[in-house]
Amino acid sequence: MHTFVPVIVAYLLGSISFSFLYGKWFKGIDIRKHGSGNAGATNTLRVIGVGPAIAVLLLDAAKGVAAVWIGKWLGAGADVSYIPALAGLAAIAGHNWPIFFGFRGGKGIATTIGAAATLCFLPTLFAGIAAIVVIAATRYVSLGSLVLAALLPVLAWWMNVEASVFWTTVVIGVFAFVRHRTNIVKLVKGKESKIGQKSGAAP
Ligand code: G3P
Repeated sequence: MHTFVPVIVAYLLGSISFSFLYGKWFKGIDIRKHGSGNAGATNTLRVIGVGPAIAVLLLDAAKGVAAVWIGKWLGAGADVSYIPALAGLAAIAGHNWPIFFGFRGGKGIATTIGAAATLCFLPTLFAGIAAIVVIAATRYVSLGSLVLAALLPVLAWWMNVEASVFWTTVVIGVFAFVRHRTNIVKLVKGKESKIGQKSGAAP
């Protein structure tokens, strides 16, 4: 009870796809049929614009923050300490594979930032700074996202975070690489779209 309720609530919360909802409500489009086909802030920037992309980024990150707090709150009193970490992971899974939208969601980076920053602030801060530097230097958001996802467990281990949080960052990294596999192929082939550049049709 103490474990499953917060995890399920966090998954349902993560399943609220703000880029999809923004596209549907304000533009009458399915964001997943445009640009990269991803339901996330980067594709919102590409297809719709800066303001909506910032709103989506903040709302998707807020899901991660809220999920961890839901884990702390609903898991309070349980004899295990990993519930907030599991809830954060569940929100990222919900974002990536949303039950409300046919399990076709985003790549989980904004929600990762919110959840990870709440679970382990300093590793997330340093991984986030590295990601921003990579994005500024290359204009590849996906490459920055992958750098963040790869550095997070390394920094979490180096800064000696709690075991459940460390293992959560490892799974977060696996999620991110799985969700970015088409980006990785495009990066290798030199075909990935850069920030500020319109991409082709959705896959
Ligand atoms: O967080 C998603 C980003 O890393 C890549 O998004 O739309 O370029 O595939 P996109």
